[in-house]
Amino acid sequence: MKRTLLVTSALPYANGAIHLGHLVEYIQTDIWVRFQKLIGNNATYVCADDTHGTPIMLRAEKEGITPEALIARVHQEHLRDFTGFNIAFDLYHSTHSDENRECAETIYRNLRDAGLIETREIEQYYDEEKGMFLPDRFIKGECPKCGAADQYGDNCESCGAAYTPSELKNPRSAVSGSVPVLKPSQHYFFKLSDARCQQFLRDFTRSAPDGIPVLQHEAANKMQEWLGTPGENKLSDWDISRDAPYFGFAIPDAPGKYFYVWLDAPIGYMGAFKALAKKEGLDFDAYWKPDAKTELIHFIGKDILYFHALFWPAMLHEGGFRVPTRICAHGFLTVDGAKMSKSRGTFITAESYLQQKLNPEWLRYYFASKLNGTMEDIDLNLDDFIAKVNSDLVGKYVNIASRCAGFIKKQFEGTLGETDRAVFDRIVTDEALAEVAAAMEARDSARAMRQIMHLADEANLYVNDKQPWLLAKDPEQRDQLHIVATTALNLFRSLSVLLKPVLPAVASQIESFFNGAPLTWADARQPLPAGHRINDYAHLMNRIERPMVDALIAANAESLQATETSKAEKANDKKKEQKADKAVDQKQDSKAATEGAHISIDDFTKVDLRIAKIINAEHVEGADKLIRLQLDIGETENGQPKFRQVFAGIKSAYDPALLIGRLTVMVANLAPRKMKFGLSEGMVLAASDTEGNHPGLYILSPDSGAQAGMRVK
Ligand code: 2FM
Ligand code: ZN
Repeated sequence: MKRTLLVTSALPYANGAIHLGHLVEYIQTDIWVRFQKLIGNNATYVCADDTHGTPIMLRAEKEGITPEALIARVHQEHLRDFTGFNIAFDLYHSTHSDENRECAETIYRNLRDAGLIETREIEQYYDEEKGMFLPDRFIKGECPKCGAADQYGDNCESCGAAYTPSELKNPRSAVSGSVPVLKPSQHYFFKLSDARCQQFLRDFTRSAPDGIPVLQHEAANKMQEWLGTPGENKLSDWDISRDAPYFGFAIPDAPGKYFYVWLDAPIGYMGAFKALAKKEGLDFDAYWKPDAKTELIHFIGKDILYFHALFWPAMLHEGGFRVPTRICAHGFLTVDGAKMSKSRGTFITAESYLQQKLNPEWLRYYFASKLNGTMEDIDLNLDDFIAKVNSDLVGKYVNIASRCAGFIKKQFEGTLGETDRAVFDRIVTDEALAEVAAAMEARDSARAMRQIMHLADEANLYVNDKQPWLLAKDPEQRDQLHIVATTALNLFRSLSVLLKPVLPAVASQIESFFNGAPLTWADARQPLPAGHRINDYAHLMNRIERPMVDALIAANAESLQATETSKAEKANDKKKEQKADKAVDQKQDSKAATEGAHISIDDFTKVDLRIAKIINAEHVEGADKLIRLQLDIGETENGQPKFRQVFAGIKSAYDPALLIGRLTVMVANLAPRKMKFGLSEGMVLAASDTEGNHPGLYILSPDSGAQAGMRVK
């Protein structure tokens, strides 16, 4: 039966460039939607810019333009980048739209009428010079835990502590530099603590529409932790208002109050669909009313699960609408094993990738080959990227066509012959197609790509075995040559059907080469008949050469050095993660939480622990707690030993001179962190008593015999 699906990706903020981290999500959603369309389902893909909030308001002010002008410009840039990567939205809208305002107001009024909105006075830092309340990330001061200067209002980048802005020492407004004052204000809250919401969310997060859980296993566990056991009321009410000045939608009947950006952001999915429905005459209610038979599928990053699996479904359900059918969360992108970094040039923008003339379908394929439908992070390993694309796409897939197309053109005037059905049916089996389809449906494109490459191997073996280049030399083998070349090209065509969601641009070239209608899923099992004329073969895809990738990294290192948004973005990302945890952890006994939770062996083996030899240790000028260590973990560069620099907070316990020459244990794959004193490229392990009964710090030492660089597991 034909399914009707509305699919979304998270809405990117309208104040930053699209980068490869974003593309992990848009590419996987686009592949999934294209797959649904290919197999004949009625899928619609909408997205929009997330345009509201203080950062966007202040960014526009800094640029000397209105927020409307800023978001209009960024909308163009985002669309340009998405189009460049062949992301085919049915509509790319904006949360700053009439449709979204209508939807937000409707939901808000319904919640209010249901008695789920409450006002309460809260105290918040206020910048008197600027005349505005300050969001946490616009307050800076000294960390209440470690004293590090210049830390944001919610967490410390130096020691990782989380706290509230009022705990910061010597707070300053990051907007004007003035000392902020605590000031009361009326805020509007969505009563998530209401028994109705708690019960609904408990049911929702465990539900499985059509037999498939609404949340992935890991996500459902996280929800369980956030919701607590039945009877525990762990959810706090959600503050949904912000005071003027604010760029957003005014709350009805509440002068000077605006919806917090995270209220109208997910409603943006609905707003975007509403605009599309208007344009294309679709039935809004069939997609959004509580009894809708259509599916609503959200693709999101794991950092915003809290908003999508708790706030958003509760808003929808209590606000009179249907709830999501499925929430598909994915992990973060690392590049060469580390967090994307502007200084290293691995914070790669979509624009730079396109400008450097790298083929977007290389990245689409690489991501497809890594994504498996779980929340695990995925790594763009640049060497692996080059190797995989060159070997799979150029070496295996395209190779089939480039080896055989010439014979059809030169010897048979572009006309196909008979297909060897025994060979074709042995390789392109119903089971193989069903396996690819099942993997794609489950968003395990990694499995699907492996299966497709296995079929490509089979097709190449067939060509190797038949050696058409030898057949071509023997006039008596002319008929056999026609069959072999035709069979190989038809196998190639079937593979092209399977790869079409991943490589839409290549697929469209192939459709013209085969001189037929756009490929559908059914075509994979149906070779073109003898006598069918095909067009001239045009080269389909180049190999990636290392210098292209190097140039991309260099371009990003240069162009982004000047921007200083990185820190704010990082802080924002971290803040989102921590907020989600903090909101519910407040009521938890933190000791029980850290000691009681289990991790899998896979989680553990992600941590690369190494024996490290302390080559040098010295005091760091201006740092109260840190010692600068040079660590040997057996790495070399150009034949020379290469040492890691690590800043360790162990000054209170160790004399640097006595550390030199010792062996210890370090975390070698921790993302390098830029600190005030330089780059810290890992962490050494030390024991301490968190209860404070036994002061002191004790770094770990291995038993004698261990060598620098040995893996600890
Ligand atoms: O985290 C973000 O980048 C948000 N702009 C995502 C919003 S998704 C949806 F809720 F709008
Ligand atoms: Zn700190």
